[in-house]
Amino acid sequence: MTATEQTQASEPTEGDVGERVKIFDTTLRDGEQAPGFSMDRRAKMRMAHALEELGVDIIEAGFPQASPDDFAAVAEIARSLKQPTICALARCQEVDIDAAGRALEQARHSRIHLFLSTSPLHREHKLGKSKNEVIDIAVNAIRRASRLSHEVEFSAEDAMRTEPDFLVEVFNAAIEAGATTLNVPDTVGYVTPFEVADMFAFLRANVRGAERVVFSGHCHDDLGMAVANSLAAVSAGARQVECTINGIGERAGNAALEEVVMALRTRQPHFNVHTGIVTKHLYPASRLLAQLTGQPVPRNKAIVGDNAFAHESGIHQHGMLKHRGTYEIMRPQDVGATTSLVLGKHSGRHALRQRASDLGYVLDDAAMDVVFERFKALADRKRTVTDEDVEALASGADPEHTGPWRFTHLHTSSHLGGGASVSLKLTHEDGRTVSEAAIGDGPVDAMLRAVERATGEAISLADFNIRAVSEGGDAEGHATLTAHHDGHDYRGSGVSTDIVEATAQAVLAIVNRIERQVPRRAAAAHS
Ligand code: KIV
Ligand code: ZN
Repeated sequence: MTATEQTQASEPTEGDVGERVKIFDTTLRDGEQAPGFSMDRRAKMRMAHALEELGVDIIEAGFPQASPDDFAAVAEIARSLKQPTICALARCQEVDIDAAGRALEQARHSRIHLFLSTSPLHREHKLGKSKNEVIDIAVNAIRRASRLSHEVEFSAEDAMRTEPDFLVEVFNAAIEAGATTLNVPDTVGYVTPFEVADMFAFLRANVRGAERVVFSGHCHDDLGMAVANSLAAVSAGARQVECTINGIGERAGNAALEEVVMALRTRQPHFNVHTGIVTKHLYPASRLLAQLTGQPVPRNKAIVGDNAFAHESGIHQHGMLKHRGTYEIMRPQDVGATTSLVLGKHSGRHALRQRASDLGYVLDDAAMDVVFERFKALADRKRTVTDEDVEALASGADPEHTGPWRFTHLHTSSHLGGGASVSLKLTHEDGRTVSEAAIGDGPVDAMLRAVERATGEAISLADFNIRAVSEGGDAEGHATLTAHHDGHDYRGSGVSTDIVEATAQAVLAIVNRIERQVPRRAAAAHS
């Protein structure tokens, strides 16, 4: 590190300095396919809009041949988003490529992302194909995909464990067939930064036409090196990084987008590249994903964790007061992590809408009505309404909380030594009103039974999580439930200063989601 760099550490270089590194976000594909992170179509749409606002260059929206839901999500994202390139994943098989092409038909900029294993282990045990056969399959697939999308990316699956000379042959053929992005995945998260840099340098020096294509890094975190490996790829000439918000993804996850981006920005003089990411949207995007998947961000997570900018120790605080640069290499506001106490019971609708929008939630008038009403009720119960409260309110503004079923009465009681009872009254938007009561092992169990009886929807609890989203005795609790119904997983969440009420909202959100989705699934199955 140079002396100049040292003084610049807390004030990153702004603007387009050095070459552009494209950010390819695969939260909705590699991220979403990991256990615990699945999202329904509406959640994917919300995430896609947040990614567009964040300024990612490419959104990998899904794997259309995997399921009708995936196909529909990719098609809707392709139709709705204007700025980023929309990408769909496909195996090197005609059915996959054609499905990807159809799903991307309405995209302004489309990319089909083909993948095929190239490593000796995969060739022998997964594909049962020779080297020449692998090359032929890749070439035919790339030619077909080139006719169906604006551009084609080719991924050599398990590239990092592939013989470098063979990888050069595969990439030579891929470029001739029409691929313009060559991805070099560390599929199993096996290699170290030095090996990554060597591989990229070798490929750029030996692949015919290397200067006409973009080399891309795609690293998994099995040994905790996904971000370091992605940065090593950039140092050695990769000009695309594939990553996910909060680092979600297969097994231990993918490289975390926010970490890659902030490392490139904070250490700009070292890497001499830039990205198009609007970094103040990083924190809202991270929190939105946590809300949509029900998976909280660990406190100590780099860039977006609650502790990422917290300075507890007296020695650090003393240093910070003298010069922030002593212990701070990035400013919280650079990533949109403002934790100021902003709103109270005298705040108006405009201030609330503005704060929600700063946090990444764009609310239309109908959603705003619901959020404002709940905000006023909360502000009456709490002295101050924090950003976390606003996030919780805004993310709870989904129509899933407003119908078709609504609570009109709820009473719960827990008994010392175990057991709980619930009585409730639910009203349906078609005018029906149902009263039910149930007992159970605890309030959640009793609530599920009562709601099941009232609505007639059989659901079984798969996962239950409750956490405080703000601080103090009057903190709001965020309940997230996952339940099975008819072979599908449904997730619902609720927020309240009363955790039993938050749980009740989450249960109802699931039932409402089932009621709204079952007719859609039935229609899709018959179309
Ligand atoms: O990890 C991997 O190899 C992948 C490919 C589909 C690019 O996700
Ligand atoms: Zn992957």
